[in-house]
Amino acid sequence: MSVFAGKNIVVGVTGSIAAFKVATWVSDLAKEEALVHVVMSRAAEKFIAPLTFGALSANPVHTEMFSADQHHSMAHIDLGSEADIVLIAPASANTIAKLAGGFADNLLTTTVLATNAPVLVYPAMNSKMFSNRATQRNIRKLKEMGFTVVDPASGMMACKETGQGRLPEWPVAKEHIAKALSKQDLKGQRFLVTAGPTRESIDPARYLSNRSSGKMGYALARCAWRRGAHVTLVSGPTSLSVPTGVEYVQVHSALEMYDAVLSHAEVSQVVIKAAAVADYRPETQSRQKVKKDKIELILALTQNPDILFELGKIKKKGQLLVGFAAESENLQEEGRKKLTKKNLDLIAINDISKSNSGFETDTNRVLLLDAGGENQLPLTSKDATANLIVDKIVSLFANNCCT
Ligand code: PMT
Repeated sequence: MSVFAGKNIVVGVTGSIAAFKVATWVSDLAKEEALVHVVMSRAAEKFIAPLTFGALSANPVHTEMFSADQHHSMAHIDLGSEADIVLIAPASANTIAKLAGGFADNLLTTTVLATNAPVLVYPAMNSKMFSNRATQRNIRKLKEMGFTVVDPASGMMACKETGQGRLPEWPVAKEHIAKALSKQDLKGQRFLVTAGPTRESIDPARYLSNRSSGKMGYALARCAWRRGAHVTLVSGPTSLSVPTGVEYVQVHSALEMYDAVLSHAEVSQVVIKAAAVADYRPETQSRQKVKKDKIELILALTQNPDILFELGKIKKKGQLLVGFAAESENLQEEGRKKLTKKNLDLIAINDISKSNSGFETDTNRVLLLDAGGENQLPLTSKDATANLIVDKIVSLFANNCCT
């Protein structure tokens, strides 16, 4: 089930040209089965009609502080107290100033004062207005007050100036909402996650690689960030977008991954190696493209370092090491061997004999093995699988598995 399903989300729309973009946000949240209630400021109504938000949210849009309708006469209290989260998008400089000052002069600002729910603010305005000292002071104030302020994106704006002040793209904005709705049980922890394949170069045009898409590792990175961890994602080449909020390290070969992982492992409490690392690389890499008639039928290979094995040797007290394995038979037996040999706390074994599990698919069916036993996870999305793996990591920590 989506993290948004059944959640009461109040979307406050204020006066900015970016107001029209929020129609897509409301539409997508409603598709995710969130209960969306839109509150518009007077200025917002100049940019987009309430009817649009009403149709997309399938709920009445709130514009009046004092409604003659007795059902809505205490709208600010009802909206605020029933909200799981309040978003203000786009947040104009004027509304940000009012919120920083604790003003309650319209339905939106009053609703914010009347809520205990997390408040997410998405500033969107001309870049000079955004960088103005007064706006920056107000944003600092909002952060001190516990609001989450999502940095606007940079680029060309409606006024044809270029700078910081654009409303973030929806996938980025959506991740911040998902995080605010997720439990924060990984706060203060550092996760190092690897994902994707490695490419072992033969010449400037050719390489050896494997079928890993990176989906499983990216889902783990996304999940850990949503649940409050600082996440470093070391990724081989994939076609996926970098997950919001993570520190991203791009690598290509197993040797590059080895260097990146070893330089980040020391400070990480949890290391998850979901990457499919090539075990071998060509013995020599040609600087020039090898001509077709010169390619020998035998390609000499040399072994890559086993990164996880090396991490197992230097594992610190209190550090939790999670491996992955892609197996098509004897899952338990093969998994146990790797768990022991690589000094792991947990291993997730993908059953790659099934077409809906393992490489490239959006779903996975994973068997978890640790010193205490085994746990067969259901066939489900890679996002849901990631959540279950992270749940297991949290329970291992709770049971002092690695102290
Ligand atoms: O990326 P997707 O398309 O979503 O697919 C997911 C996945 C199948 C790639 C992933 O979930 C997975 O199973 N990754 C590990 C696959 C693998 O390479 O297994 P292995 O048995 O070769 O390696 C075991 C473990 O040792 C892995 O954690 C691997 O990262 C690590 N390893 C392996 C070789 C090596 N030289 N260095 C390593 O660190």
